Amino acid sequence: MTMVTHSRDESIAWGRRLGALLGPGDVVTLSGPLGSGKTTLTKGLAEGLGLEDSRYVTSPTFVLVHEYPADVPVYHIDAYRLGGPEEADALGLDEMFYGTGVTIVEWAERIDELLPPEHLRVLLTIEGEEARGFALEPIGERYEGVAAAMGTRG
Ligand SMILES: Nc1ncnc2c1ncn2[C@@H]1O[C@H](COP(=O)(O)OP(=O)(O)O)[C@@H](O)[C@H]1O
Ligand SMILES: [Mg+2]
Repeated sequence: MTMVTHSRDESIAWGRRLGALLGPGDVVTLSGPLGSGKTTLTKGLAEGLGLEDSRYVTSPTFVLVHEYPADVPVYHIDAYRLGGPEEADALGLDEMFYGTGVTIVEWAERIDELLPPEHLRVLLTIEGEEARGFALEPIGERYEGVAAAMGTRG
């Protein structure tokens, strides 16, 4: 089942609900075309994780990763700009993936082989000018539970 939202605010609210179900060590990957709402969703996820001011949640361009002070550290990565596995290594991906924060990866398909075996895949689609689809594809038992709680399993 795909969740379809009809505004940016609705997507943020959905993200907030999902973020509230996440915790230390979780990894969420966002896949979908430009403008599908990956960064917008990340704002909601960070809010759900306790970030008070999500104005600073923007696409990590020059630094490749943003860190937000939520209840746990939230790492926001844009893999679109990652050159390759060497650059990914230099970024300290594994420290983030296997640490106590929550990692959110936009364009995760670019670093598929570097992702931890278990993670929550979110597939985003553009369904109309202001309609966006979100489907959860949990990989691993932990994330099966999260997807079940959201009632949105892709
Ligand atoms: N239902 C919706 N959910 C999310 N964003 C929407 C929605 N409708 C319109 N938008 C717009 O789509 C764009 C999504 O941009 P962004 O989140 O940066 O996407 P991405 O990170 O996938 O490139 C924003 O300009 C946002 O205002
Ligand atoms: Mg983006």
